[in-house]
Amino acid sequence: MNAAILSELRAAVQDDIRLSVAPEDLAAYAYDGTWAETAPAVVVHPDSSEQTAAVLRVAHARRIPVVPRGSGTGLAGGSLPVPGAICLNLARMNRIIEISRGDSLAIAQPGVVTQDLQQAVEKLGLFYPPDPASSYQCTLGGNVATNAGGPRCLKYGVTSDYVLGLTVCLPGGAIMRLGGRTIKNVTGYNLSQLIVGSEGTLGVVTEIVLRLIPRPDAERTALATFSRMADACAAVGAMLSAGIVPLLAELMDRATIRAVEEFRSFGLPTDVEALLLIAVDGDPALAQSAIDSAADILRGAGARDVRLSRSSEESDALGEARRSVSPAIARLAPHKLGEDVAVPRSRIPEMVARLQDIARENALDIVVYGHIGDGNLHPTLLCDRRDNAVMRRVERAAGQMLEAAVALGGTLSGEHGIGVFKRDYMRLACDSEALRRMAAVKRVFDPHGIMNPGKKLPEEIEKGAE
Ligand code: LAC
Ligand code: ZN
Repeated sequence: MNAAILSELRAAVQDDIRLSVAPEDLAAYAYDGTWAETAPAVVVHPDSSEQTAAVLRVAHARRIPVVPRGSGTGLAGGSLPVPGAICLNLARMNRIIEISRGDSLAIAQPGVVTQDLQQAVEKLGLFYPPDPASSYQCTLGGNVATNAGGPRCLKYGVTSDYVLGLTVCLPGGAIMRLGGRTIKNVTGYNLSQLIVGSEGTLGVVTEIVLRLIPRPDAERTALATFSRMADACAAVGAMLSAGIVPLLAELMDRATIRAVEEFRSFGLPTDVEALLLIAVDGDPALAQSAIDSAADILRGAGARDVRLSRSSEESDALGEARRSVSPAIARLAPHKLGEDVAVPRSRIPEMVARLQDIARENALDIVVYGHIGDGNLHPTLLCDRRDNAVMRRVERAAGQMLEAAVALGGTLSGEHGIGVFKRDYMRLACDSEALRRMAAVKRVFDPHGIMNPGKKLPEEIEKGAE
């Protein structure tokens, strides 16, 4: 990057320590949570909306791509730098600005780690439900960018259900404030919800107003084991049809359970085909009766064993086991491709069976786990990127999984986003008229195509060729 542009960027962030072109920094910011790697041309660490806007002013005028990022835990390549890009690291904007009991909301900067916000509000008797599995590490800005979900979203909804307002810096340097402190707001178009899930392709979120709810008093957890995967899938349907909406309903197949137990011994049974982790929350007496009813339904649906947690420590350990799945699987092979398909609830058993068939047909090892209660599954293919023959089969299998999800009335991504990895499949799931409108929206916000280019939309759509 030439010296004149660097000095404009330095002026934008007002301090030498907020900009780096050192090779070690460029290497450190070349990654996200996937296997891909592209070094940016420069890393900047803005400290405010004004500095962020100033960086976008330079980028817009100089036509330089900008890739925003938080802690880089994304699983679709959304925050992966592109060649020549400014990596806009928002992780240092990590202040919780306000927690209001009176208005039941929190205002935070994008670099706040999700779990830090959760712990801060829980101390005050409040609750922020969205809980991506990486919540101890991921940031609220990334959660907004991907409209992140997580296990608890089955009962409580996803990030977008909690966003009341946003401050967004736009290409060219304008600062846009959206929404505010009210739960209801139909004043104008709902641009906040357009920004949520836009994966940094329209602008950069620098302040977030999040709705909070009262913290539930109690949580009860059950672990159900199954000799047949199909029974585990059907059991979840039976529970939901009986009117129980659990806090979470998480599935792990045998390969997942084994990986987790090898990673850290949580005491999960390793000789079963599938395991369901079920939790309910609310008033203590109601939670107890709900988990007892859930246990009866699970047994009736063929569970081999249903174990109720006896203490909150035991429940916490099960939650920890669930959060360990991704790192545990990462140890099974040099690389992994974790998908994120979502299907309607009634099609879950078919989808799970189809995933196993696809892996078998392509002679690949697969690990299946996920948020089975809302049909959001994480089939993960194990591989070694150095083996071209395997990678060709991985690519084919991934495509077949996405096709299968769409054929069952589902979608490409439930929570990780499209990023770079799934943009070529967008036509499978999106109406072509809708894609054209999306491209038009992109041009309104980002006429020079500098905002996280090469992400989310298929290449020809983004370039306006159609
Ligand atoms: C999880 C991440 C991969 O649920 O979404 O573990
Ligand atoms: Zn997930």
